[in-house]
Amino acid sequence: MTDKFLAIETTFLQEMANANSTQQLQEVKVKYLGKSGEVTLLLRGIKDYPAEQRPEIGNKINELRKKLEALLDEKTAALQQNELTAKLNSQRVDVSLTSSPQAGTIHPITMVKNEISNLLVTMGFEVLEGPEIETDYYNFQALNIPQDHPARDMQDTFYIAPGILLRTQTSPMQARLMEVKKPPIKMIAPGKVYRSDSDASHSPVFNQIEGLVVDENITLCDLKGTLEYLAQNLFSKDTKVRFRPSYFPFTEPSVEVDLTCSNCGGKGCSLCKGTGWIEVLGAGMVNPQVLENCGVDSQRYTGFAFGLGVERIAMIKYGIPDIRLFYENDVRFLRQFKK
Ligand code: PHE
Repeated sequence: MTDKFLAIETTFLQEMANANSTQQLQEVKVKYLGKSGEVTLLLRGIKDYPAEQRPEIGNKINELRKKLEALLDEKTAALQQNELTAKLNSQRVDVSLTSSPQAGTIHPITMVKNEISNLLVTMGFEVLEGPEIETDYYNFQALNIPQDHPARDMQDTFYIAPGILLRTQTSPMQARLMEVKKPPIKMIAPGKVYRSDSDASHSPVFNQIEGLVVDENITLCDLKGTLEYLAQNLFSKDTKVRFRPSYFPFTEPSVEVDLTCSNCGGKGCSLCKGTGWIEVLGAGMVNPQVLENCGVDSQRYTGFAFGLGVERIAMIKYGIPDIRLFYENDVRFLRQFKK
């Protein structure tokens, strides 16, 4: 029996000495002290000895087990320390690599969004933000777009659950505000919107700024004056604004708004496809039905609304041919907007 103990201890010590990772050490532990390890088998073999010898043999085996355990624990601790040191060394960050840190820049979309918002704030608009995860009710129904209305086709919608979607426009903020605030209302709502559409001029996520004015005696002229002020400060003093008839279920009448081309000043160039005009946004007089849906007296109040695409304005302003450049975030592109 003693020979057997000795043999086990000797091979154990050898194998432990050869183990040079905690992983290998664990394997040694299993081989000797695991469920069917050598020492465990010794313990199981006790029953084959005469009863009077069993206590003594049992004690010896336990002593052996404790000894091996202690040795393993000691070596495990040492190896763990080594492995940690190796890991820390290999993952060391060379903080001296760049001697002069590069300052970031404001993203062009944020820049243009802020510029437009600030211009409108100087005209007395308050700024509002709302949820990007929206209900079917606010995104469509409150805006006079019932279920199965063909106008839903224009806005390839990402649905999340029945009745819940990623807002396709910032217009739901019109309804959200009118429900809780009595006129006079003069607000803008900038934010991200989502549509399942992607090419050089469409992105599945982009930014809009919604504008809404509701009060007594608001007319289409107020809309035109507001947009003219905005366009002339955003582009140049001689920018002209043109309305073309259009259709949105939540405005009546509805218009597409064109500006004289900022590239050629209206003479005709490749940017404006020779027309001298560039379409920039949709707008109109708030449909009385929408006012009523939100509890606003449409006999007393009228309003105008507009919705512009921030990326579109930025593309025109900076002559950017592909919307995807805004999201790739190539620093060579972004640095060009450094003020
Ligand atoms: N929400 C419309 C769109 O995304 C734009 C719009 C806003 C039109 C407000 C009229 C009034 O296409």
